[in-house]
Amino acid sequence: MKQKTIIIANWKMNFEPNIEAGLAEKFVSGLTRLANDVEIVLCPSHVGLHQVNQFIKKSNLVLGAQNMSWVRQGAFTGEISAEMLDDVGAKYCIIGHSDRRIKLGETDKMVNQKVLCALVDDVLPIICVGETYNERSEGKKEIVVQRQLEAALKNVSGQKPIVITYEPVWAISPGGPAMPDDIQPMIELIYQSLIDYFPLELVEENFRIIYGGSVDGSNVSGFLELDKVSGALVGAASLSYDKFKTIIEQAKKNTC
Ligand code: PGA
Repeated sequence: MKQKTIIIANWKMNFEPNIEAGLAEKFVSGLTRLANDVEIVLCPSHVGLHQVNQFIKKSNLVLGAQNMSWVRQGAFTGEISAEMLDDVGAKYCIIGHSDRRIKLGETDKMVNQKVLCALVDDVLPIICVGETYNERSEGKKEIVVQRQLEAALKNVSGQKPIVITYEPVWAISPGGPAMPDDIQPMIELIYQSLIDYFPLELVEENFRIIYGGSVDGSNVSGFLELDKVSGALVGAASLSYDKFKTIIEQAKKNTC
């Protein structure tokens, strides 16, 4: 079964909530028509979720968060639980982004705990995996990605939708992008791992594999045309309405 293409805007820590809300309003008015064919997910900062949702909830665009806690509740000062994200209207949450793995020491185990918490509280995980430049140079990209994937999906039943993002760290802007030919074998590896862990019907029904790393309007089609790639995670190019719109338009063409 061909899965609906998903394009995810990861705004990272770039804008204050009122600017995020203004951008969301523009995205909603300009992209609603395209969002019937392409699932468009906006991931603002935590403090922007509520304001952004005021515009998104009346539309067919979808709200996502950039991170969540690895525990469900309790004395974890400053943390935000999956239940809180669900309550504020977030359908998705990015988990295990390399910004967090590398800059904040997020471990494979924490990524797995977050995935399990998200699924319990009805937030759908967007799990990021990908090797660094050094790991790739040392010929370890397959080992790293398989390790991250296997750990992230430990004790996951596969009964709920999950997005797996292959995002090689070296390809994230201002590096990258990767070449589609480089990406295809890694997408295949991820798909093969998924069908090792879960029954094929569940993989086909509930899992989407997407690419992330310097995606823009000029290269997105090359990634979406790859076998088993169902979308993209977009950082820098999602900060501009015009650039993001071009990506969505290309993605829509790809669905035709
Ligand atoms: P980029 O970021 O599109 O700016 O490379 C992607 C990401 O880090 O998720």
